[in-house]
Amino acid sequence: MFPNQQALPGEFAQALAREGHRFPPLAAFVFWYPEIGSTNDRAAALADRGADEGCLVLADAQTAGRGRLGRTWASPPGAGVYASVILRPAADVTPLVTLAAGVAIAEGIEAATGLAPRLKWPNDVFLESSGRPGSGRKLAGILAEGGSTPDGRSWVVLGFGINVLPAAYPPDVAARATSLEAELGRAVDRGVVLAECLAALSKRYRDLGVGRAETIVSAWRSRASSTFGRRVEWDADGRSHRGIARDIEPSGALVVSTDAGVRRVISGEVRWI
Ligand code: BTN
Repeated sequence: MFPNQQALPGEFAQALAREGHRFPPLAAFVFWYPEIGSTNDRAAALADRGADEGCLVLADAQTAGRGRLGRTWASPPGAGVYASVILRPAADVTPLVTLAAGVAIAEGIEAATGLAPRLKWPNDVFLESSGRPGSGRKLAGILAEGGSTPDGRSWVVLGFGINVLPAAYPPDVAARATSLEAELGRAVDRGVVLAECLAALSKRYRDLGVGRAETIVSAWRSRASSTFGRRVEWDADGRSHRGIARDIEPSGALVVSTDAGVRRVISGEVRWI
């Protein structure tokens, strides 16, 4: 099932071999790199050349890891899970892949560790400090990017980065970030985390494919309850806007009430204020 798994380090090879039956077609092919620029870039190049749905690009370190909105994603060796999967969703559900991925990565981390990650729109995965709902340190991030092959077959590359060791993030974001090992106070097997995330992603992707998008939106809502009722700020049309986050729509848009009426935020990010 995993033709090149012998090249994978043991923790990944063992978990994928043990759990792979739970997530077809994801990771039927695994491209492993001890170091790469960005797994998303590599997966996009493979997708462009017609690689199968489910191909997984996995790296121990990234030298040009990318985050959302043009940011850098620090990816030092062995400190995180750096993974990108090629998907080929139907056009009508493509906009929901990013929400589905947020739910799946949170669920996968929970299954692997017992931690209960929360979501911030659209798909930041973070942990709340106990007793302080709305506080949050980022644990994982997701970067979904789309394109199409020269013959018109569209694809989505879904990249996710999970902080496993505190060394995963630079000191200047230490107040806003956390890692699995810092939270749990013990060593974490990256293979188990990856396998549980792939299993959850496979399930949520199947939900999208069979018309059960509402289960994803409702799972997203229940992991994002501390967002609703909060003051948020976002940038659009060259200026910043403020309002109170109310809900997400079935389309994935965030609904915000402002002094000027109800607004729908469909791209970018919101900041909690
Ligand atoms: C974010 O800004 O929150 C998204 C971060 C996404 C990082 C992952 S790590 C694997 C994949 N490759 C990249 O270059 N980025 C994503």
